[in-house]
Amino acid sequence: MRGLVKLTARAVSFIPCRQCGGGRPPAPLGGRILSNPDDVFKHNMWDHVQWTEEEREKARQKAEENSEEKIPVEEQSKYDREAHKYWDQFYEMHQNKFFRNRNWLFTEFPELLPPDTGGMLMAEQEQGLQSVNREKHNYKDTYPGHHAAFRILEVGCGAGNSVFPIINTIRGSKAFLYCCDFSSRAIELIQKHPDYDPAVCHAFVRDICDATSPFPFPPESLDIILVVFVLSAIHPARAQAVVRGLAGLLKQGGMVLFRDYGRYDLSQLRFKKGQCLSENFYSRQDGTCVYFFTKDEVHDLFSAAGLEELQNLEDRRLQVNRGKKILMHRVWMQSKYRKPEK
Ligand SMILES: C[S@@+](CC[C@H](N)C(=O)[O-])C[C@H]1O[C@@H](n2cnc3c(N)ncnc32)[C@H](O)[C@@H]1O
Repeated sequence: MRGLVKLTARAVSFIPCRQCGGGRPPAPLGGRILSNPDDVFKHNMWDHVQWTEEEREKARQKAEENSEEKIPVEEQSKYDREAHKYWDQFYEMHQNKFFRNRNWLFTEFPELLPPDTGGMLMAEQEQGLQSVNREKHNYKDTYPGHHAAFRILEVGCGAGNSVFPIINTIRGSKAFLYCCDFSSRAIELIQKHPDYDPAVCHAFVRDICDATSPFPFPPESLDIILVVFVLSAIHPARAQAVVRGLAGLLKQGGMVLFRDYGRYDLSQLRFKKGQCLSENFYSRQDGTCVYFFTKDEVHDLFSAAGLEELQNLEDRRLQVNRGKKILMHRVWMQSKYRKPEK
């Protein structure tokens, strides 16, 4: 299979754990550290795996090779123009069976836990409530979730793999969840789900690249915006405007929680020639698109939108197919950016 590395255990680079005398990066993303290369086939996934220069160079070459031949310019615009149709077809075909529930959600993003479920310190809770009181807007207090003391928005929520874990966590609290996607099929799947509850959640169709249509809540009214594997689906030339728009929805002190594909992830290296739209941006066979970010790009996107960095990490893992003895390098970005208090 393309993009996979067949390696012996000895060829794997790793970071020794602190207890074993080495240093582990100060990252919360999983704690299974491969300290003895001979153990590589003992688990399906290892965390904080560093690449050797040689591995990095190999990945760079592979990405260079698969981007040599670009999708013809005259065909390119349809992937952007008709993106919502490709995603509609995707959800038509896969329903809600494709993505797994985001079980890491509350471990990596405890900020999602509303204050009244113990997710925030009292001081932070007070700050949050003060900023609700500071809201000045023309919206009548009749919009969905207007009563809430803690508001979360998930953009590009798909079939709800984060939505339902969040709904089931915030039920009974003072929090409210908004979620949107430009695929009406995806939103329908959410609205028909037995756990969907309009008392806690409002799901709506919205293209986050469209700056002209309003959101069903006032600007500067959100505590958290969750952006999980969504910016990668958007043309990189649009990403900055999207992030700026999202920043405008946050209260002061509110946060964007971001997770997405990182540069040279296995899924980038697996693309075949002729699927590349522009550097590090590809179209899949089904017409959906994906971009692969670097840490600097993520930082530039969020800081240019006036947000300050709380976390910006590359989550590098080694995925192991123990049956086939295949090792695969995965790279994801994980970041948290906050809107400063004035
Ligand atoms: C890879 S899926 C991720 C879905 C979900 N966030 C998850 O983690 O399971 C990308 C999602 O982003 C949505 N999306 C892509 N571009 C969008 C846009 N411009 N506006 C709103 N949603 C968008 C797609 O419809 C799709 O549901």
